Amino acid sequence: MLLRLPQVLDAAALARATALLQDAPWQDGRATAGAQARAVKNNQQLPGDHPASAELRALVLDGLQRHPLFFSAALPKKILPPRFNRYGGASNAYGAHIDNAILHDASGLRLRGDLSCTLFLSDPASYDGGELVIDHGFGQERVKLPAGDAVLYPASHVHRVEPLTRGQRLASFFWIESLVREPEQRRLLFELDMNLLELRRQHGESALATALTGHYHNLLRLWSQP
Ligand code: NI
Repeated sequence: MLLRLPQVLDAAALARATALLQDAPWQDGRATAGAQARAVKNNQQLPGDHPASAELRALVLDGLQRHPLFFSAALPKKILPPRFNRYGGASNAYGAHIDNAILHDASGLRLRGDLSCTLFLSDPASYDGGELVIDHGFGQERVKLPAGDAVLYPASHVHRVEPLTRGQRLASFFWIESLVREPEQRRLLFELDMNLLELRRQHGESALATALTGHYHNLLRLWSQP
């Protein structure tokens, strides 16, 4: 399941994030790639210890926390602190690769990457190319979203970033370990949750809504690994 998360960052948060990234000391993205990915990776990343990193990560995590769809769709157990990258100039593409299963950061946090997330930070009209192409098993999806929007997708999908031919593309990217490892179970829970919201919107509270909410939580109890 590929899910678009509209407006993870509002206009003020987006302006602050892009200002912080304006004159960032970008480093070669290959520094953090696994062996297969390194051969096809050609972008730049913000060093994790850059002074602006903490504020940038907090902006993204805060946006996720407020988002109406993120928790229900991801059922997050752990989130790897968001990272930031830039495509442009001679560092302008990332060929087909799969993300590592086990991820860690400098603080010693270690997680299984169940979901990948890319948060777009640049206006899509300001650059050409740069689509995130996700091979989801039934074809490919080409993703290029308005600044502030994110896409959430299973980390098990091969994906790539098309070469940029104009402008620069700034983004944040990170991985999530979910309380529910199985994508199909996660999808069923998300759909049930969304249908429950709609049931309540149309008909208000009822014994049926309560009973179905019980099913949701009992399935989550059965399938989650807190
Ligand atoms: Ni990737």
